[in-house]
Parts: sequence; structure tokens; C-alpha cells
Amino acid sequence: MKVKKPSDSVCINTEIVLPNDTNTLGNLMGGRLLHWMDICAAVSAQRHCGRVVVTASVNNVSFNQAIRLAEVVTLQAKVSRAFSSSMEVFIDVWVEDCATGAKRKCNEAIYTFVAVDQLGNPIHVPSIEPESDEEIRRYDGALRRRQLSLILAGKMKPSEATELKALFTAS
Ligand SMILES: CC(C)(COP(=O)(O)OP(=O)(O)OC[C@H]1O[C@@H](n2cnc3c(N)ncnc32)[C@H](O)[C@@H]1OP(=O)(O)O)[C@@H](O)C(=O)NCCC(=O)NCCS
Repeated sequence: MKVKKPSDSVCINTEIVLPNDTNTLGNLMGGRLLHWMDICAAVSAQRHCGRVVVTASVNNVSFNQAIRLAEVVTLQAKVSRAFSSSMEVFIDVWVEDCATGAKRKCNEAIYTFVAVDQLGNPIHVPSIEPESDEEIRRYDGALRRRQLSLILAGKMKPSEATELKALFTAS
């Protein structure tokens, strides 16, 4: 199977925050952002493997800053690491002030997708070779995050999470 680059999987999506997307304070609702991130990340994972993908887990989401009504939101998703059938995808979110054009990074999330066949069974995906410093950093951390996610899902014993444990035992 061909080795791919993270840049092959980039998906960029731009949205505008409309009244129906907001809470009573006039801020974008977290659930709407999760939905936008899910779609953008799914397209990215699909670009990587060329197959149907399903969301297996949402591993990390941080809502660092509120996003206001009428602001323009740009999401960028990119596969950070591919395992056997699963792919970790990072989503970075920026907000653009329409009046000034200034952009600020607002949120970040990490989702895991699994490529499946027509019967919903997991299938192999191409591996990935990171290039930039950020891609290498995210690739290196993906194994620990996968172990943590599998432990929380009850699919791995903590004693088997060697790389994750090493984080806590390193001097
Ligand atoms: C995701 C799904 C395909 C996994 O199927 P499964 O029978 O549990 O398969 P496996 O245990 O063999 O796991 C398959 C892969 O998923 C990964 N995986 C499963 N659960 C995971 C989790 N919570 N976090 C991270 N990875 C996970 C496994 O590590 C494995 O990865 P690998 O092949 O790269 O090693 C299956 O659980 C499913 O279809 N879930 C519903 C998906 C869905 O409908 N999502 C939309 C939300 S409603």
C-alpha cells in the first residue's frame, strides 16, 4: 500500500456563525462546532484512505475562546497518523473578524476515524510519513493518545499501554 503524506489529506472548511448556531449569549454552540469538526475531519480521513470512514472516538476537544455570532470560522483537518484501520485526525480552528480581517486560533480537536468496508468491517489504510516539525510532533504523540483512548473505551488494559506509561515513569 502506498505511503501517504499528511498534506495529501488536508481539508479546509469555512463557515459563518448564524443566529441558529448560537446559544442565548450569542456565542457559537459547542455541539455545532463539534459537528463541523466531525465533517471536516471525516473528509480528511477519507482523502487519506479513499474509503468510507466512521468516527470511532473524539479524543480531545478544547473550547479555548468563545466564537461570536457573524464571525467567520475556518477549520483545517489533517491526518496525523494512520494505524491499521484507524486514523488520528487533528482539527485546528481559526476565527476571522469580518471588520478587521484579523485571524485568531480558537480551538483544537483530535478525532479518530476507522475505514470500513460495505459491511462496516474495519479495513487497512495506507500508512503516513510526517514531514514538517508539527506533523512529526503530532505523529509521535498519536500512539500515546490512541492508548489512552482505548483504555478509556475499555478496549486496552493499562498494563499494555507501554508508551503511555513511559510518560509517567520518565525521569
Ligand atoms: C469504530 C468501529 C468500526 C470499530 O470496530 P471494532 O469492531 O471495535 O473493531 P476493532 O476493535 O478491530 O477496532 C478497529 C480499529 O478501531 C480502533 N478503535 C476502536 N475504538 C477506538 C477508540 N475508542 N479510540 C481509538 N481507536 C479506536 C482500534 O484501535 C482499531 O484500530 P487499528 O485497526 O488501527 O488497530 C465500530 O465500533 C463502529 O462501527 N462504531 C460505530 C461508528 C459510528 O457509527 N460512528 C458515528 C458515531 S454515532
